[in-house]
Amino acid sequence: MPLLERIKKLASDYASEVVKMRRHLHAHPELSYQEFETAAYITRQLSELGLAPRPMATTGVIAEIKGKNPERKTIALRADIDALPIQETNNVAYKSTKPGIMHACGHDVHTSSLLGTARILSMLTDQFEGTVRLIFQPGEEKHPGGASLLIKEGALKNPVPASIIGQHVFPLLPVGKVGFRTGKYMASSDEIYLKVIGKGGHGAAPELAIDPVVIASHIIIALQQIISRHASPKNPSVLTFGRVQANGATNIIPDEVTMAGTFRTLNEGWRQEALKKIKSMAAALAEGMGGHCEVTISNGYPYLENNDELTERIRQAAEAYVGKENTVDLDITMGSEDFAYYSQVIPASFYRLGTRNEARGITSYVHTPTFDIDEEALALGPGLMAWMAVKELGS
Ligand code: NI
Repeated sequence: MPLLERIKKLASDYASEVVKMRRHLHAHPELSYQEFETAAYITRQLSELGLAPRPMATTGVIAEIKGKNPERKTIALRADIDALPIQETNNVAYKSTKPGIMHACGHDVHTSSLLGTARILSMLTDQFEGTVRLIFQPGEEKHPGGASLLIKEGALKNPVPASIIGQHVFPLLPVGKVGFRTGKYMASSDEIYLKVIGKGGHGAAPELAIDPVVIASHIIIALQQIISRHASPKNPSVLTFGRVQANGATNIIPDEVTMAGTFRTLNEGWRQEALKKIKSMAAALAEGMGGHCEVTISNGYPYLENNDELTERIRQAAEAYVGKENTVDLDITMGSEDFAYYSQVIPASFYRLGTRNEARGITSYVHTPTFDIDEEALALGPGLMAWMAVKELGS
């Protein structure tokens, strides 16, 4: 039987097992960097395959599947394993058993899918060259990003993998379809905290006060000009302030106003320049109006660049696996992903697995209490990634 057919056969044999694993993980979600039970579960599953999983960055798990000539080439496959602080409202048999914690970003799907891929590949070790490194990564949802910790601890060393591939569910894409994008794909993300300090007073006597509410209002409007007047129209940028707090009253001018927002873009040079402009513009405006503005920036993930050649190759592999009609081009997204850290070190590609099924009402976006997937995606994900790995390594 040709290798592609063998992989498809193994994938269909294992599909119900993968769904079982996904449901177990979904029912037992854990927050970022607290994925102890999840890591133990992954370790157990991999040990059953005869692999030698080892912990990394406390709750991460790394294992290798060696094919023929394991020294020849290594590639890495990554799944993130953490859940979100969201209360699930789906009424399903596998509903989260942990109050306020939910796999609302599909990391249960990524983890079970990669466990399925591991099963398939461990049955085919005489069919491919080199080594597949499996990376089960903690803390994707929380600063500083588990990817950065794993890289520090050597996940991409000894030997350095030739490439790394990551998969993410996509509730906008119908189940059965897979999406790719070469080059820039996801944005960098930085958190901006502003504290506007004025001088509080009676609402009826503004001349005796320095009103931080009025200063803060000017700052919010003025900072949008960094996007409209300083950013190149060809370079996507977004600045959103979602939290503004002034604890005055109808007749009380408060002493200070705090604001929090996010800045996102896909250009590292512009990112640094824009952050500088945000700082200086906010400070200068506040000074000009007699107040003061403290700016704190917490740097998040860098932008994600999909390696062109790698992405073209895995896309071709996907076309062979699911048919050209089921592979689609993705648009840039201003969402961010810590997979970006890997893309700064080695050729990386992050693709999307369709999980939407409108007929069955499975349409909720990620990070919502009603997010779910059409589990048919799990009949596709594990075999597809195994096929990509085998194609990358050669048989
Ligand atoms: Ni995610």
